[in-house]
Amino acid sequence: MFLLGTQKINDAGHLEIGGCDTVELANEYGTPLFVMDEAHIRAQMRTMKAAFDAQNVDCHITYASKAFPCLAIARIAAQEGLWIDVASAGELLTALRADFPAARIIFHGNNKSVEELEMAVRSQIGRIIVDNFDELEMLDRIASEAGVRQQIMLRLTPRVDAHTHKLIQTGRIDTKFGFNIDGGSALRAVETALKKENLELLGVGCHIGSQILDAPFFTLAATIMVEFLAQVRDELGVEFEQLDLGGGLGVRYLPEQTPPSMEEYAATLVGTVREGLEKFGLMMPQIAVEPGRSLVGEAGTTLYRVGTIKRIPGVRTYVSVDGGLSDNPRPALYEARYFALNASHASEAQSDRVAIAGKHCETDVLIEEADLAAPTRGDIVAVYATGAYNYAMASNYNRFRRPAVVLASDGESDLIIERETLEDVLAHDLLPERLIQKDAATV
Ligand code: LLP
Repeated sequence: MFLLGTQKINDAGHLEIGGCDTVELANEYGTPLFVMDEAHIRAQMRTMKAAFDAQNVDCHITYASKAFPCLAIARIAAQEGLWIDVASAGELLTALRADFPAARIIFHGNNKSVEELEMAVRSQIGRIIVDNFDELEMLDRIASEAGVRQQIMLRLTPRVDAHTHKLIQTGRIDTKFGFNIDGGSALRAVETALKKENLELLGVGCHIGSQILDAPFFTLAATIMVEFLAQVRDELGVEFEQLDLGGGLGVRYLPEQTPPSMEEYAATLVGTVREGLEKFGLMMPQIAVEPGRSLVGEAGTTLYRVGTIKRIPGVRTYVSVDGGLSDNPRPALYEARYFALNASHASEAQSDRVAIAGKHCETDVLIEEADLAAPTRGDIVAVYATGAYNYAMASNYNRFRRPAVVLASDGESDLIIERETLEDVLAHDLLPERLIQKDAATV
């Protein structure tokens, strides 16, 4: 039986999360519904911290909030002593409104606007991860106008082709992100940044991609980053205090997937860094990692209600649910695969092979081959591991309302994001007077 976090099957034969019966949650809050397992999120955050502590390094665990930006999860990350990574004004505002200590906020992005940089400086956030030469100039000016010396790091591109979907690889030479180490742009960026009066360069970072299931890619990136630290020391006479190795650790979407454990991940990264530092005679910097998916991905489950069932003899059975592309675009974007079960009949054999389809005007198949216990209209289907980059990427396609999200723990559930109303969806539509006058003209 494939169960994640606190998921279990209760006496009613229903899937339970955080001690809450998912069929009851679906009845109470409606569907589609995201259920976030609070204990699992906290456990992942603690395990990640403990894994790096066990390596005897000074390390910041930074929650990459893009995975699931909302007040409640930001607050949990703050309570667990993490840092937070934001990548837009909206994510920054979310962290600030969640009372995240500004000193533990870091700001990423390849095309930050002047307004975003000003907001970040004004909010006195911990550090800004500068991505390009333009940004160095802009930020130096903004910091000077604000009369502050802003702490920064530089985002580097270490040339690593991680085996993950090409749309979520970011460490290759051919990427919009960061200063490439190859070709010397990264070294020039360090040189330039060191000369900026209003910026204090603490170190460098990289992020090679997401949903990485093979530890050697992390080893390669860490090795290249340490070589770069040695190059900076040799050519510019500077040793950095900080090294950020990004996020990217994969999760289990399917029972057969085996991502490295957090312990393995920490040991690989720190071991590689340590070995490199010794080789070059460098001191140990403070390490940062920026996990998003591995902290919240497995903690999320989407509950849908089954509607139409279409059987095409000898071909396939389509079980349509009341969400789809708008709450989970990942199958369409990345050919992402998911596991599901019939949460209403969770203790029965999940033995009917079906396709789970959404209800958009689109061939939005969420899972091409799912095994469900005899699904019938009204059953609750649970799709696992939807905590990262699902609600975060939800849309209003076909003018669907974005779903509600509840946080479940110890038998209690609380709404952390309300379901949008149809009025919310239409709230920004306008009918210009000029168009209305055309009615009169055409009648
Ligand atoms: N740090 C930086 C600079 C990043 O760009 C990202 C993710 C992370 C950390 C967190 O990576 P994680 O630990 O979550 O893998 N929408 C895609 C994923 C895009 C990831 C973007 N950057 C998906 O649904 O798979």
